[in-house]
Amino acid sequence: MSRQMSMVSEPSYEWGGPWTEKKLDAFSKYVSAYLTIMAKQPHWKTIYFDGFAGCGNRKEHCNSPLYQQLFLTSEDEGVYKGAAERVLTLPNNLTFDYHYFVDLKTEHLEKLKEKLLSLQKTKKTPFQYRDGDANKWLIELSKALKAKKSLAALVLLDPFGMQINWDSIASFKNTRSDVWILIPTGVIVNRLLDKECKLKSLNKLQSFFGLNEDEIKSYFYRVKTYQTLFGETEIVRKISNPIENIAVLYAERLKTVWNYVTEKPLRLENSRGVPIFHFVFASNNQNAVKIAKQIIKTI
Ligand SMILES: C[S@@+](CC[C@H](N)C(=O)[O-])C[C@H]1O[C@@H](n2cnc3c(N)ncnc32)[C@H](O)[C@@H]1O
Repeated sequence: MSRQMSMVSEPSYEWGGPWTEKKLDAFSKYVSAYLTIMAKQPHWKTIYFDGFAGCGNRKEHCNSPLYQQLFLTSEDEGVYKGAAERVLTLPNNLTFDYHYFVDLKTEHLEKLKEKLLSLQKTKKTPFQYRDGDANKWLIELSKALKAKKSLAALVLLDPFGMQINWDSIASFKNTRSDVWILIPTGVIVNRLLDKECKLKSLNKLQSFFGLNEDEIKSYFYRVKTYQTLFGETEIVRKISNPIENIAVLYAERLKTVWNYVTEKPLRLENSRGVPIFHFVFASNNQNAVKIAKQIIKTI
């Protein structure tokens, strides 16, 4: 794999630090609120869809350099609960009607299945495991939501890389869906926006934002004209605060699909206070976004 390819798919970054906990805390709080509300509206059949489900623990994900950077104790590993486990062990018997777990790697799903075996016994419907690219399964899910109007989906997409194609996101227009998406703003996207206005991995940037080269450049770069001894000269400069602006642009893009979006997503920072990811929420339900905003404020 070339350096640039691995850059867009899996950042070689600390994984499992406090920012992971923040993300999962915000998400669990939202799921509790969502299911409490949906329990009062039994005409909806609820789906939990986890597009990057993983294997349920940190160690297995990354026998890569990523994992080497964690310096986790076996105690840390023991208490780690991924999103799937958290969703399945909420208080007050809060539960979805259906659960879908997607992962590119069959072996991750096998491990997750094993881990969730005892929790399966507490649920009415069998958990659905789907291997392959999340984009393919997102399109399938959006088709199902459009075909069956009584279905409501809560979607978690936390890939750590830029794997999600804009077309998969756009397919959710006019569906009863709520989504939480992890955007690799600082850790990847910002690095592809070269200071000199040479976009690295242009195809990836285009499929990620669903925008063309000129649109991306006009958002992140400004042309300045300077007077020199030899006449006027133009210099292209990257905008200031690009990381926050990546989150703003992605939120703007989400607003073309859902009516309401958390314009100020949850900012997730590394140990030096640098934003590495933003966790954004979108829904067609105004109240849902109010709840998400409240959670983001308190995390
Ligand atoms: C770090 S894990 C997600 C963590 C998990 N949600 C949790 O809370 O523990 C990322 C997972 O995404 C999977 N993955 C990577 N690219 C994918 C793709 N295009 N489609 C589906 N899964 C993918 C990887 O195999 C890996 O298991």
